[in-house]
Amino acid sequence: MAMDPQREVSREVVMSLLEDAHWAPTHGLNQPWRFHVFASLAARTRLGEGLQAIYDEITPVAKHIDAKRTKLLTNLQHAPVVISVGARVVTGGKIPEWEEIAAVSCAVQNLMLSAHERGLGAYWSSPPVACGGEFTRWLGLEGTHRMMGLVYLGWPQSDQLPPPSTRGDLLDRVTWHDA
Ligand SMILES: Cc1cc2nc3c(=O)[nH]c(=O)nc-3n(C[C@H](O)[C@H](O)[C@H](O)COP(=O)(O)O)c2cc1C
Repeated sequence: MAMDPQREVSREVVMSLLEDAHWAPTHGLNQPWRFHVFASLAARTRLGEGLQAIYDEITPVAKHIDAKRTKLLTNLQHAPVVISVGARVVTGGKIPEWEEIAAVSCAVQNLMLSAHERGLGAYWSSPPVACGGEFTRWLGLEGTHRMMGLVYLGWPQSDQLPPPSTRGDLLDRVTWHDA
């Protein structure tokens, strides 16, 4: 979806989306979601350059694709707000990692539904550079975090709306046990 990079999303609006995210279900009230908000162009450029450095670090030379590397930066310049999503996981703790990742996923869905209600576009993307330990370190977090990608936020450009969403047959994914 094309977003208007010039049209700001205020800090107040972003915080109210994050407040909705914060009410996601969470086992043991661990509230494992950790968000880093990159709002200014300078902050998004810094993030993009960081992701490019991670790309160089984790991509074997033979698999290096210039266009992919460039997009890691330009994508961040096309959305006015980008939020990195992470789950803080306590290894050996009472709550298994999958539950913390599920809780953070619920938080992201809350955020995206809230964005949609306000007419904002939101897009969850998971490039490998934003999902591994290298990114955890770049953010300055300890190793007990699982990084879960980036959410792009912005006001949709009304002349460039995305094609309508589609889904397969729901009945292929639901089994009733009612005999
Ligand atoms: C955890 C997660 C990661 C995703 N990562 C990507 C991604 O890296 N690239 C992509 O094109 N879509 C990705 N998607 C899918 C899009 O966010 C979106 O759901 C999909 O394009 C379908 O659009 P719709 O939900 O509006 O129908 C991801 C979805 C989830 C839940």
